[in-house]
Amino acid sequence: MSKTTLSWKGNLKNNFSYMKNTIVNSWNEWDPLKHVIVGRADNCCIPAPEPAVDVKIPPDSVMKGKHGRRTQDSIDKANELLDKFVKTLECRDIRVDRPTPLKFDEKISTPDWKAEHMFGCMPSRDVIITVGKEMLEATMSFRCRWFEYLAYRPLIQQYFMEDPGMKHESAPKPRLTDKDYHKNYLSDKVSIEQRLEWAEKKYFVTTEEEPLFDAADILRFGKDLIVQHGFTTNLKGIDWLKRHFPDHRVHTVNFPGDPYPIHIDATFTPIKPGLILNNPQRKLPKEQRKLFEDNGWEIVYAAQPAHNSPPPLTYYSIWLSMNILVLDPKTVCVEKSEVYQAEQLDKLGMEVLPVDFREAYGFGGSLHCSTTDVYREGKMEDYFPKQ
Ligand code: ARG
Repeated sequence: MSKTTLSWKGNLKNNFSYMKNTIVNSWNEWDPLKHVIVGRADNCCIPAPEPAVDVKIPPDSVMKGKHGRRTQDSIDKANELLDKFVKTLECRDIRVDRPTPLKFDEKISTPDWKAEHMFGCMPSRDVIITVGKEMLEATMSFRCRWFEYLAYRPLIQQYFMEDPGMKHESAPKPRLTDKDYHKNYLSDKVSIEQRLEWAEKKYFVTTEEEPLFDAADILRFGKDLIVQHGFTTNLKGIDWLKRHFPDHRVHTVNFPGDPYPIHIDATFTPIKPGLILNNPQRKLPKEQRKLFEDNGWEIVYAAQPAHNSPPPLTYYSIWLSMNILVLDPKTVCVEKSEVYQAEQLDKLGMEVLPVDFREAYGFGGSLHCSTTDVYREGKMEDYFPKQ
């Protein structure tokens, strides 16, 4: 009897000591990374046609008209690359957790719509954002991604138990009826020139029917949050974020030149305090640069990508070259084949860790997309005192 009690106490003690080790805390994109979530490729699907997806697949893309579960070979390859990336991080003493994949190839529905299948859980950056001690589930703006947060719930619930100061929040789930999308965007006949003109005028596929945002449209700079207004985040979504984070200053940014403005992290990439890479084809407009310039931040144009086209069955552009993961203000993970980006970062004084990842791009992006910070050392700081 006493022996059992003892071993039970022993287990309990172990659990408690583990509990003390979990800290949810991350205020920016560059402080030393200690704990991160890395996505998985299991059951990943090419989404079936739906308004938000259709507009971002160019008419000449091989993905047009294709949908369904990706091949097992490609899933296995992507998982192999993700696992290797995890090892690279663990070798640097970074704790890594993984989501629990759902049966993404099953049909889903809400009272408002049906979708043939879901998407996947590789780009965790799109779904969950950590702001300080809070982990927030985004509304999302694609129907196929409506339930994706469930893949992260086991981890988030674990952190909730293990860190008594952690806050778990979920943004209001949107209806995503047809009213959420501008009809004239949904035609194959819309030319790139037309899209560029619309983007310049801040007329995007999503309407202002209800608040919408994807977590990967937000960049964290301590007290300031920089949010891209585009296809996946509307002005109501940004207003929701402003009201939700009253201790932050929330700024809206646009990047004319991007015909498919989805997620900010292949367009604007902070490296360390005072230094940001900007996509040279999607320049931050002059009036929006003021905040950075007035506070001594340098905006450097990113090096050219090493490839002329993305790998097959990828939604995203060649600018995933900029989708790097900063481990601390001196160290950065860059995709192995992106030699020009690596060279530029090296010249900017960073230690570059090459990570083989290109064949996983199709599953939702590169090294920044596929991760969600849980803990970076450091606290909330004001990097833009002059405003
Ligand atoms: N829209 C970007 C591009 O194609 C890709 C952004 C991917 N980011 C992400 N978090 N999934 O250039």
